[in-house]
Amino acid sequence: SSDLYLSEKKDLVVADFCCGTGKNSLLLSEKVGTFKKVILVDINERFLEIAKKSKINAKEVVLVKGDILKADLTCEADAVISLFAYHHVPDRAKGLYVKKVIEVLKPGGLLLLGEIYLPTKEITSEYYKYLTDTIPDGDMSDSLRTFLLQTAESSDFEFKVSQDFAHTQLKKNNFTLLESKKIWPTTKKFGDDIGMFFEVWKLNTKV
Ligand SMILES: C[S@@+](CC[C@H](N)C(=O)[O-])C[C@H]1O[C@@H](n2cnc3c(N)ncnc32)[C@H](O)[C@@H]1O
Repeated sequence: SSDLYLSEKKDLVVADFCCGTGKNSLLLSEKVGTFKKVILVDINERFLEIAKKSKINAKEVVLVKGDILKADLTCEADAVISLFAYHHVPDRAKGLYVKKVIEVLKPGGLLLLGEIYLPTKEITSEYYKYLTDTIPDGDMSDSLRTFLLQTAESSDFEFKVSQDFAHTQLKKNNFTLLESKKIWPTTKKFGDDIGMFFEVWKLNTKV
């Protein structure tokens, strides 16, 4: 639904943090129309190569290969896309990640945040077990099962984050929550603040 917040605007400048193959920028540009500029940042060169070939609807596409925490991104973006990225940063560095978002956003700019909020190691294990059990047999493969279990137990490339931690940090940095939508699970299996969320945050002013 992020396109609803952006569809009135022209000449959008968008930064996609930890963009992977760039599919989120692609989808958003298809919804809201040609971006003036998109800046795609990822540490994985192979993902960026795929992103480069994808048909993101933008007048200018800038690829930045490297650690988002060290990236020098000078722009006045209307929106930062951060989908399943913030939790890749250890807790002690999450403040720096938020500072990077602020650095590139113009005041009033939007943070489009997709996250899996998991407060503890135990809930993380349960969450991925439930996810694995929920995926229909026809869609499950050995490699997907292995990946999900590896993700559940990972402490070197996935650091997990609770909704409380993320919300406290963003509010402290002058963001206002415009919308928070839980995507999965839709059952009552876990608490209301646990699972996959999509959120829209607005940067009020730069502090
Ligand atoms: C779960 S994927 C999400 C990709 C994309 N945002 C999406 O929603 O499809 C996490 C991405 O973060 C990238 N990544 C992890 N740590 C990073 C860092 N410190 N700096 C830049 N990119 C990073 C990975 O290479 C990967 O593409």
